[in-house]
Amino acid sequence: MIDLHNHLLAGLDDGPGTFDESKMILDKSSKQGITKLLATPHKKDVLELDLSEMILSQVQLLNQYAIQSELNIQVFIGMENHLDKYLCEQATNGLAFTINYGPYILVEPPYVDSFDADFYSQLNELQSNGLLPLIAHPERMKGFENNPNLIENLKNSGNFTQITSGSILGKFGSTVENFSKNLLDLGLVDVISSDTHMIKGKREQDLLDAYTLILKEYGEDFAENVFRKTPEMFLLGT
Ligand SMILES: [Fe+2]
Repeated sequence: MIDLHNHLLAGLDDGPGTFDESKMILDKSSKQGITKLLATPHKKDVLELDLSEMILSQVQLLNQYAIQSELNIQVFIGMENHLDKYLCEQATNGLAFTINYGPYILVEPPYVDSFDADFYSQLNELQSNGLLPLIAHPERMKGFENNPNLIENLKNSGNFTQITSGSILGKFGSTVENFSKNLLDLGLVDVISSDTHMIKGKREQDLLDAYTLILKEYGEDFAENVFRKTPEMFLLGT
């Protein structure tokens, strides 16, 4: 599997506090059958404290650790980019990281009750500059709550969707769980990722549990698409 949303880097955002914990998250991810993992610290935290270099160095150290420990997993560079009027400029000048330096970009919409015109124009601006937005966990956001039409419209206008494994597993409550399944049934989900924040607990690595559930409910081809083929396409920028 490929995990495109993971806060395993240490001391950058609300992910783990120590590098030992980062290594434990990597161990656990590898044990669950994840072979490629995108590190996605929050842009806001990284830019406010000027921590971009730490992303590069920690990813390098984690890849060295994976080789030394014979873990079949590779870490790639990314970012969870909250959407605002600065994002397009930050992404085009390299301050905001896209997915593995390619055209796809993980975008976190604002936590608002409903989206205003700026939301749509900022997504369009990204696209006009050759970027392909992957919308992070819409199923957990008030602005999208129980509104599959809005998500369908965004997908029809060139955006993609990432649903979080914990949502499908019921960790964010039944409303989010049911909405997630509704989106899956309607074919509005491109990838499922973990959004891991910690070693253990609600925000732990749980992609394998979600894979098992999706395999049972939707079959092998569908599981292959949302857990491997499409994430690989986003990672390689193809
Ligand atoms: Fe996240």
